[in-house]
Amino acid sequence: MNKNKALVLLLLLTGCMSYQPTTPVEADIERVKSVYPTYTLEQLKEGKALYESKCSDCHGLKRPGGHSPDQWQKIVPRMTAKANKKSPGQITPEQSEQIVKFLVTMSLAGKS
Ligand code: HEC
Repeated sequence: MNKNKALVLLLLLTGCMSYQPTTPVEADIERVKSVYPTYTLEQLKEGKALYESKCSDCHGLKRPGGHSPDQWQKIVPRMTAKANKKSPGQITPEQSEQIVKFLVTMSLAGKS
């Protein structure tokens, strides 16, 4: 195999590796104080856990930084509807909201 082919293969492999969100820290909360004034690190971590468990059924987890906060506000309700169509009651409205907050926060924090 020549060098270029090896490189392409490597890129394909790394592209397919499943994404693991970074652990939220207090500084992430500070950045969204103006958007979510009462938000706590505890809630952010709950949102992350929900995101990981509810959003990896049909495809790999998407990077929070891959979409803007505005996009997440629209995508998550759309995906919640998909999930609930597949298995009714899979994601409650409260859980959906927590997932939005997690993704918006990490997106604003510039976390990929
Ligand atoms: C029932 C299966 C299913 C579940 C559960 C699911 N998705 Fe998806 N998702 C899809 C499919 C199918 C697509 C591609 C078609 C589309 O965009 O509607 C997609 C596409 C996406 C995209 C790309 C959309 C775009 O406009 O670029 C994002 C981001 C996403 N999902 C996020 C999520 C999040 C966040 C959750 C959890 C709330 C989730 N998905 C749960 C099936 C699912």
